[in-house]
Amino acid sequence: MEKTLLRSRLPMTFPTTVPVRPTGPKVFTKSRLVTFLVAGICYLFISLLMSCSRISNENALPASGSTITSSMESYWLSDGAARASAFKELSNLRYDAMDIILKDADVALRNDSVYSVVLKPQVAPSGDAHDYLSLAKYFWRNPDTPDGLPYIRRDGYVNPEVETVQDYRLLRQMLREVYRLGLAFQLTGNETYAVKASDRLYEWFVNPETKMNPHFHWGSLRKGNTHGSRTGILDMYPIYRVIQIMPHLQKSPSYSPQLHDALVEWFSLYWEWLSTSSLASQESKGVNNHGTYYDVQVIPIARFLNKHDVAKEIATHALSVRVNRQIKANGWQHHETSRPTSWFYSVFNLQGLFLLAQQCQMAGVDMWHYVGPEGQSIKTALDYLIPFALNQGQGWPYSNLNGYPVTNLVPLVEIGYLKWGDEAYLHAMPLLRAMAEKERDTNHNTRPLSDFFCQMSELLGDNEFVC
Ligand SMILES: *[C@@H]1O[C@H](CO)[C@@H](O)[C@H](O)[C@H]1NC(C)=O
Ligand SMILES: *[C@@H]1O[C@H](CO)[C@@H](O)[C@H](O)[C@H]1NC(C)=O
Repeated sequence: MEKTLLRSRLPMTFPTTVPVRPTGPKVFTKSRLVTFLVAGICYLFISLLMSCSRISNENALPASGSTITSSMESYWLSDGAARASAFKELSNLRYDAMDIILKDADVALRNDSVYSVVLKPQVAPSGDAHDYLSLAKYFWRNPDTPDGLPYIRRDGYVNPEVETVQDYRLLRQMLREVYRLGLAFQLTGNETYAVKASDRLYEWFVNPETKMNPHFHWGSLRKGNTHGSRTGILDMYPIYRVIQIMPHLQKSPSYSPQLHDALVEWFSLYWEWLSTSSLASQESKGVNNHGTYYDVQVIPIARFLNKHDVAKEIATHALSVRVNRQIKANGWQHHETSRPTSWFYSVFNLQGLFLLAQQCQMAGVDMWHYVGPEGQSIKTALDYLIPFALNQGQGWPYSNLNGYPVTNLVPLVEIGYLKWGDEAYLHAMPLLRAMAEKERDTNHNTRPLSDFFCQMSELLGDNEFVC
């Protein structure tokens, strides 16, 4: 019932008018009120997140968490005029979010270039132009050999040479754009977006001229090696977003049953490769973020292929191989801190664990509240990082390149609050957000707007938008 109520209040399509709050005694039941408080708080958070937002709530936002809560109470409990103005504000925010999604989708729409692995001048050692190829990013020419082979590892230092093979960039761009186009279609029902999303899927996975072969045998190639590395499989992890949007795309006539069947065929072959390739087997056993992101990728693919039991099996197994093995009792992710970019990888793996918890949830396994034998959990991993994030890494006991950016940690704290209701997160949030804002000004990086929808989804409890 709460769900229906929220849906009617926060429609997933453009509202033509400001939503009107229905009146009557039922509306004010305690649980609904609580839901509303959370929704209101979340909206205020989100408003601050969105750098492109035209609306600023900063003046209205008190500094500390508890005051936020009490001010929200008066927000909702006060007279009709205050409620109406609150709704107007939320509704405006909603327009902003839509605006950004549609702008991103329109950029994707306008791009008529072909995205294909066959375009690269440098084919994989197999000689097959349809084979995906990417270069290992931390490997460099060997200074001691005339031809520079075999390449040697300098962890933490990205070799710009990776840019010379564009398959990775195109793969990621395709996955991102299909997701945005699908989202725009879902939100507006405008067929133009579904047509483009379907065209991109057809181009990458189906069209015999341009398709990619269903394997990552040549991912993360270290020059001088006769095959790719297991780590190249991680290139594909954002596929979970595409799979997530597919049920919505399927409602469009542009996403034909033939296209769907062809995609199922591609992913069946890919599944076969994952099940038999030694690279995939090694990657699944990865003890750090590689193992996490492997599961983030394979659970949704299993679900897409209707292998629900397998998805649940992987999810259950993940509790021990990802949470128990990767997180120490105090929340320390020791496999990540052994890297030269120890902060980056600690945050990156935690992002992966959040994604994984969401995938597990969809497969019927609760990783959010799972506690391992030593007391470790995703929450302890987050709690471990927050103090260092707040004091810019002071006292971080591991060697670390590239500083202590917090931008990617902010959504984890927000979702963490929705999941675990820890008041400490409410206090950390405005501080971290202000720091993230500065990082954005410096690096011009913006947070993906999908965060907005992921948090909506968390509030609605519907898994519609994975974070
Ligand atoms: C389309 O994407 C390709 C591949 O990334 C890029 O090179 C090109 O500049 C883009 N075109 C437009 C119009 O954005
Ligand atoms: C659908 O979206 C396209 C691209 O933004 C736009 O040009 C077109 O007018 C839209 N159609 C409708 C019916 O809104």
